[in-house]
Amino acid sequence: MWWKEAVIYQIYPRSFKDANGDGIGDLPGVIGQLDYLADLGVDVLWLCPIFKSPNADNGYDISDYRAIMPEFGTMDDFDRLVREAKARGLRLVLDLVANHSSDEHPWFVESRTSKANPFRDYYIWRPPKNGREPNDWLSFFGGKAWELDPATGEYYLHLFAKKQPDLNWDNPQVRREIYDVMRFWLDKGIAGWRMDVVPFYSKDPAFPDYPAGFDGDYARVYARGPRLHEYLREMKREVLSRYDMMTVGEGIGVPAEDAPLLVDERRGSLSMIYHFDHLVIDRLKDNFMVRRPEGVSLVEVKAVFEKWDRVLGDTGWASVLLGNHDFPRMVSRFGDDTRHRAASAKLLGTLLLTMKGTPYVYQGDELGMTNVPFASIDEFDDIGTKSAYRAWVAAGRDPAPFLAMANVTSRDHARTPFHWDDSPNAGFTTGRPWIRLNPNYREINATAERREPDSVWSHFRRAIRLRKENPVLVYGAYKDVDPAHPQVFAYTRSDETTRMLVVLNWSSEARRYALPVPVSLAGLALGNYPAAPTSQAATGEAGPAGSATVSFTLRPWEALVYRLR
Ligand code: GLC
Ligand code: CA
Repeated sequence: MWWKEAVIYQIYPRSFKDANGDGIGDLPGVIGQLDYLADLGVDVLWLCPIFKSPNADNGYDISDYRAIMPEFGTMDDFDRLVREAKARGLRLVLDLVANHSSDEHPWFVESRTSKANPFRDYYIWRPPKNGREPNDWLSFFGGKAWELDPATGEYYLHLFAKKQPDLNWDNPQVRREIYDVMRFWLDKGIAGWRMDVVPFYSKDPAFPDYPAGFDGDYARVYARGPRLHEYLREMKREVLSRYDMMTVGEGIGVPAEDAPLLVDERRGSLSMIYHFDHLVIDRLKDNFMVRRPEGVSLVEVKAVFEKWDRVLGDTGWASVLLGNHDFPRMVSRFGDDTRHRAASAKLLGTLLLTMKGTPYVYQGDELGMTNVPFASIDEFDDIGTKSAYRAWVAAGRDPAPFLAMANVTSRDHARTPFHWDDSPNAGFTTGRPWIRLNPNYREINATAERREPDSVWSHFRRAIRLRKENPVLVYGAYKDVDPAHPQVFAYTRSDETTRMLVVLNWSSEARRYALPVPVSLAGLALGNYPAAPTSQAATGEAGPAGSATVSFTLRPWEALVYRLR
């Protein structure tokens, strides 16, 4: 299956490359960098929303599903992107934001005018209950999830911002509209859809309050409504089964045990979903901006990978990601973005490309881009960060700790412009960038890294190639051979003919590490230190069938991939 073998590259178009100097990335910018992407070796480009939008949430609020965001270019630009991508063997996946639209979408503009309007039922309207909101649900971007609309005296539901009213999937006409939109773009030659917050499509029509003793995990309440699978099966029949395509659902609110209902090839409707269990380990359930003080332990991260691999089994398929446009930078989150930035970014890239499941490389992670030192709240753009800030200050709290926290957790860390070179504005734009840059672009940029054989970029490229050349890294069984070790992540990938071993020193300390299972090393396939593999000094004592207890001398954040006999 091509989407199992593919490496997906996620583009945040606003921040990738600006071709016309207005400070905003655009489609001609992407077209101009297709050779860069082909050279890196990825196969599929997922573009965050490129449709017409007032940008309350940077395109996750669509006002016309069939038009390109004017800031990003024209339909001609899009058609050219499809052709030029195809010419380089690259496929495109677009972002379907169909749980909600913009309040500026003509459907909603109509819908709010009167209870009798034919578009009324495109959205979720409810009369007040005892003079208040229909239930106690909260929005992800602060405040209640219901907004009273004066025109008719009823509330509409918005799980996200007020400007993102939830569509009513229980209305078959809404579903038909969305399927039409999906076909419209598929007929233009795209290879699939990433489906924004897909588990929220179906809601409990009774709209009960939060359960007693609710722990603040809103997504668990909003996700997996009673008709979700019915709608996805219908979508499969009407659209998905008619194209050679992939789907990846944002698995928000879906516990691992339920994932097979969505992606198991015998009964699910989607190719894959992705979850953020490992990305939210240290976040408060009811506020993604706030971190628990003790941070994340490697043992917890390993447990997440193990669990998802186990529940998906042989008939489901995983997505592997370590960050995206909703999370801070991978290397700042899991690695050491100061002294061992390059080594730890390479280690994380090694994990991404040797884990079981389709890997998603988020733009800039192949350079080891880091979190950004935001100096004041005004430098942020993200609606999530800003609304959390307002709520924080409104509660009478000191703004300073919020800024410190946002400097670790904000979504904007991943949204600043891509670093193309060391010229002003990192070669992203000749104008004024829409959001500030990371000042470290003079050291961390694509031009410099592509010249340097030991760069993070070159390592990602080698790791991508290794995956392509070794089907065992795509399809082989995954086994964590030392789940309890607090600093080393060691696992094997194996099929009938081949076995590979991955050893990751997840820490800034050098250490000697003895693998708890006997193996027979056949050669190093990939490492993240320039010096020769002999320095690994794998030493063996004789064990059963030619295998031995092997120990490694691991340098900080060292990542090793061995072929086994
Ligand atoms: C998804 C998107 C996020 C957006 C939200 C609302 O979580 O990834 O960026 O804000 O949905 O559409
Ligand atoms: Ca532009």
